[in-house]
Amino acid sequence: MTEDALKLLLVEDDPGLQKQMRWAISDYEVFVAGDRESALTLFRSEEPPVVVLDLGLPPDPNGASEGLATLEAILRHNPGAKVIIASGNEERGNAVRAIGMGAYDFYSKPVDIEKLSMIIERAWRLYKLEEENRRLTRSSSAPFAGIVTGDPEMQRICHTVEKVAGADVTVLITGESGTGKELLARALHDASPRSSGNFVAVNCAAIPENLLESEMFGYEKGAFTGATKQTIGKVEVADGGTLFLDEIGDMPLSLQAKLLRFLQDRVIERLGGRKPIPVDVRIVCATNQDLQAMMQSGEFREDLYYRLNEIHLSVPPLRDRQGDAVLLARFFLDKMNKQFNKSIRGFSDSALAALNGYNWPGNIRELENRVKKSIIMTEAKVISAEDLELPEVEGLERVPTLREMREKTERESVQRALALAQGNVSKATKLLGISRPTLYDLMKNLQITLKD
Ligand SMILES: Nc1ncnc2c1ncn2[C@@H]1O[C@H](COP(=O)(O)OP(=O)(O)OP(=O)(O)O)[C@@H](O)[C@H]1O
Ligand SMILES: [Mg+2]
Repeated sequence: MTEDALKLLLVEDDPGLQKQMRWAISDYEVFVAGDRESALTLFRSEEPPVVVLDLGLPPDPNGASEGLATLEAILRHNPGAKVIIASGNEERGNAVRAIGMGAYDFYSKPVDIEKLSMIIERAWRLYKLEEENRRLTRSSSAPFAGIVTGDPEMQRICHTVEKVAGADVTVLITGESGTGKELLARALHDASPRSSGNFVAVNCAAIPENLLESEMFGYEKGAFTGATKQTIGKVEVADGGTLFLDEIGDMPLSLQAKLLRFLQDRVIERLGGRKPIPVDVRIVCATNQDLQAMMQSGEFREDLYYRLNEIHLSVPPLRDRQGDAVLLARFFLDKMNKQFNKSIRGFSDSALAALNGYNWPGNIRELENRVKKSIIMTEAKVISAEDLELPEVEGLERVPTLREMREKTERESVQRALALAQGNVSKATKLLGISRPTLYDLMKNLQITLKD
């Protein structure tokens, strides 16, 4: 659809109301239908993203059955459509039901044209925003499947990963918790010629210090009490593949020395073993600690740091990635809809604003968890800020009311006329085509004073 053809479908059987409502929708290319069948025909052929729908349609003008059936069919055809429901006061229950089915909003009859125009305008904005997000998701040029981002810095990092995947350089990935360090490490492995080998992750923080060495390098039978059989260490398992040392900042100094020796010689010795075993691995490390500060305080070996840091990827926190929160939320929604066999359509504009406004201390992992929880818990078709347990923020950029627009125009016109008339009131009234008292009234209301 082109930018300027803003199509809107009005489903209303009362010709009087049709006419009245045209005022609210004069900016749009409007298609009018009076019943379900013609509405659906027009909806399919014209694909208007926004629909204003009266629930009481023939042959059931006093009930809601036809309207709700129309809504259902419209959303089945295009789940992204924004359907605005018209409801009489006594039909509040049906309007709420419609929202539960995925309608965008409702307004009460009799029609308040100003309010309806605002709702329509907001529906359009949301539709365009979602459209833009879909476009970004499609075109987000991250080179790897599974890494969702539209952020230039993240894309630069992905390209670096792609470039260095083929070389056996050691890569250090730093970033806050939950920013996707492990995901990047796996992407690096998958893009490398080692992808047919193993990707072996060792979490240095999760294994007690006294066990870490045997975990990494393995041991021979009888090497220590309890060593009842020969055990291959993680480094050896990763032979021909990638060894991912997670939380490298938590590696004890004694083991740092052994790792450094391994990096220099590329051979290991199992605990209690006698012969060195050559191992060919690519090392990738990650940490959310400040290794530089740890070097200064003597907790991390400087020589090891420079060995590990041949390529450094500094992953930005989610709050610094423009638009990624919404993009990722949509990604997780699609994924989890499938996983939990749900059909939630999307996020309310309060949710979108909240996603963008929140500062995400737990980064992508937190986002993933919030979306997951809301999908499991919610009964609605659309996820709200409340479902995500996020604080509500000022919504999408607010649409000015007609009154505000009128005031702005009046102010500009009056100021311009007064300026052109150089403060001569009767000249200004002529330019504006209004009477003297009207001009004084306007000036008083707008608090415009004559400069002397
Ligand atoms: N850009 C992304 N696109 C899609 N999913 C992502 C992205 N970044 C992270 N994830 C997902 O978010 C979760 C957290 O990522 P990951 O485990 O890689 O973070 P981390 O930086 O290693 O965290 P920690 O420091 O806590 O270990 C994972 O489920 C991962 O798949
Ligand atoms: Mg991790």
